[in-house]
Amino acid sequence: MLMTKMLILFAHPALDKSRIHRRLIRAVPELSGITVHDLYDTYPDFDIDVAREQELLLSHDLIILQHPFYWYSTPAIIKQWEDLVLEHGWAYGAQGTALRGKRLLSLISTGGPADAYRRDGYNRFTMRDLLAPIEQTAYLCGMEYLPPYLIQGTHRMDEAEIEREVGRYRQLLSLLHAGRIDLEAARGQASLNLALDKLIGQEVPE
Ligand SMILES: Cc1cc2nc3c(=O)[nH]c(=O)nc-3n(C[C@H](O)[C@H](O)[C@H](O)COP(=O)(O)O)c2cc1C
Repeated sequence: MLMTKMLILFAHPALDKSRIHRRLIRAVPELSGITVHDLYDTYPDFDIDVAREQELLLSHDLIILQHPFYWYSTPAIIKQWEDLVLEHGWAYGAQGTALRGKRLLSLISTGGPADAYRRDGYNRFTMRDLLAPIEQTAYLCGMEYLPPYLIQGTHRMDEAEIEREVGRYRQLLSLLHAGRIDLEAARGQASLNLALDKLIGQEVPE
């Protein structure tokens, strides 16, 4: 069976203080074709190796930007990565076709709960609204931007809830890797969580 080659671009500037991502990143299934790339660990001085990053992108089909939500956006290194790696003539522009046909997924945790991210919620914008710059960046590069996968309300999560999220995350990655999530059907949805919920309960891959 053809497996999806997945690159997890992971960005957390203070992993020692993390409750969620430290657990998630340790739980990534050890499957060939899933690469974890920790940006803060690799580039503590933000001195990004553009050629290496471009090689990594070329050798994967699904790029996952995994990070905590910081000030309604990504941690800073992801911006730096975009600014340097997505070069004109490579990622976009008339000759810039390197990323065409690949998929991009944001996998984000937010301290605020899901209902805060509504027009009538205290954050006033939906996650899709706030992620528009990344969605449009993907579009400009000819990539399909998938609905984000969201872990929300992390401030109030207790140990059991975190454990449950870690399990769901593992399942998500395994199912994406096996091409078992119907990404066409998920298109246009607020998040990928619903697609995962539909699959879990039917069958759990290991
Ligand atoms: C600098 C900073 C900015 C943050 N900005 C937001 C934000 O804009 N919206 C939000 O819901 N949570 C925000 N948070 C909360 C984090 O998203 C939350 O603590 C994180 O997702 C939990 O993951 P972790 O335990 O791996 O750090 C912020 C936290 C920090 C430290």
